Amino acid sequence: MSLVAERFQPFGQSIFAEYTALATKHGAVNLSQGFPDFDGPDLAKQAAIAAIQAGHAQYAPMTGVPPLRQAIAAAWQRQGNFAIDPDAEVTVTCGCSEAIICCYTGLLNPGDEIIIFEPFFDFYAAGAAFAGATPRYVTLHAPRTPGGAFTFDESELRAAFSPRTKAILLNTPHNPTGKVYTRAELEFIASLCIQHNVTCISDEVYEHLTYDPSLPHISIATLPGMRERTITLSSLGKSFSLTGWKVGWSIAPPSLTAAVRAAHQFNTFSGATPLQHGAAAMLLNPGTYTASLRELFTRNRDTLARALQDAGLTVFRSDSTYFLMADHAGVSKRLGLLRDGQPNDRAFAEYLVREVGVAAIPPSVFYHNKSHGHSLVRFAFCKKEATMQEAASRLAKLR
Ligand SMILES: Cc1ncc(COP(=O)(O)O)c(C=O)c1O
Repeated sequence: MSLVAERFQPFGQSIFAEYTALATKHGAVNLSQGFPDFDGPDLAKQAAIAAIQAGHAQYAPMTGVPPLRQAIAAAWQRQGNFAIDPDAEVTVTCGCSEAIICCYTGLLNPGDEIIIFEPFFDFYAAGAAFAGATPRYVTLHAPRTPGGAFTFDESELRAAFSPRTKAILLNTPHNPTGKVYTRAELEFIASLCIQHNVTCISDEVYEHLTYDPSLPHISIATLPGMRERTITLSSLGKSFSLTGWKVGWSIAPPSLTAAVRAAHQFNTFSGATPLQHGAAAMLLNPGTYTASLRELFTRNRDTLARALQDAGLTVFRSDSTYFLMADHAGVSKRLGLLRDGQPNDRAFAEYLVREVGVAAIPPSVFYHNKSHGHSLVRFAFCKKEATMQEAASRLAKLR
C-alpha cells in the first residue's frame, strides 16, 4: 500500500526524472528536461564565491537579501515596466517553483477554483493538490495551419470562469509550446480577470528568451487594471543558464505579496544566501548574456526543426523558451508505433530514446485531457550547438 498522501498519488514520478534516467541508461542525447548542458556566466559565479568568502553564511531575510530585491526591481523597470518597491512588492523564493506553490497555498482556500491553460508546466496541477483548490482547464489548441501558434478559444476561456474562480495561472512565454501570448490575447484574459475580480498568477520565467522581434514578451501586469491583481513570477535559471541555483521571485502589490510571504515563511523561509548575492550581481550587470543566448537558441531551434521535418514530423512554431512541440502521428504510423490504432506519445518517446538515441518528453503529462497530448512530443533546444548537431544526425535514423 502506498504511503504517499492521496492528494499526490495521481501525479506519480516526475516525467523529467524518468526521461533523464532513460537518457542516461540508453546513452541518448538528452533533449527531455529543460536545462542547458553548459555553464552559467562567470560574473554570477564570482559574485557568489565572493559572497561565500565574505561570510554570507547565515539565513537570508525571509523576503530575500536587499541587494537582490533591489536588483530585481531595477531589472523589472529597465524592461520598461512600472516602478516597484523592492521592500513591499518583491519576494525571493527557491526558484520560481517555490513561488508557484506559495501562490497556490498562500492565496487559495480549499474549494477555490483556479483556471489553468493546458498543456501546462506540471507544477500547476500539483499546486492545486497542495492547496486543495479545484483546477479548471482551458486548452491551448494546436495550430490548424502551418506556421500558426497554439491558442485558446475565447468562449472556452469565458466559460471556465465561475463565481468560485479565485485565480488564473498564465505562463507566457509558454512551456511546452514556445508560444508568446499576444497583446490581444492578454487583453482578453485581463478583461475577464477584471470582470470576475480574479487574481492572475503570471509565470514569466522565459521572459528573456523570445526569438521573433515582432512577438515581444508582454507582462500582463502592465495592462490597465492588472497591476493590482497580478503576481508576476520569474527566476534566474532560464535567463542566465543557472537552473540549479534555484533563485526565483515574485513581484506583486503589497496585498498579494502578503499572500506569497504567508506561505513562503513556512515553506522554505529563505533560499541560499550566497546565491542570492550572485544573482543580484548578474541582474545588475546582465551585459549581452541573454542576447547571445537568444542567438544560440534561435540557431538550435532551427537545426532541430529542420531535422524533425526531414524525419517526417510536423513541427509547430516556437517563438520562445527552451522548447518546441512536434506531431509524430505520421512517423508513428510508418514505424508501427500506434497503440490501439492511435498515435501514443509514450510509445514514440520510448522508441526515440531506445532506438534513435534522443530523449524527448511525451507531453500527455502536461494535459488534464491526456488524449490531447498523444500525438505530440516535446524537445528541448537549450543545449550546446554540438549537442543539437549530434541530435539532428541521430534523428536522421527516423527517415
Ligand atoms: C514554466 C516554468 N515555470 C517554472 C519553472 C521552474 O523554475 P525554477 O527552476 O526557477 O524553479 C519552469 C522550469 O522548467 C518552467 O518551465
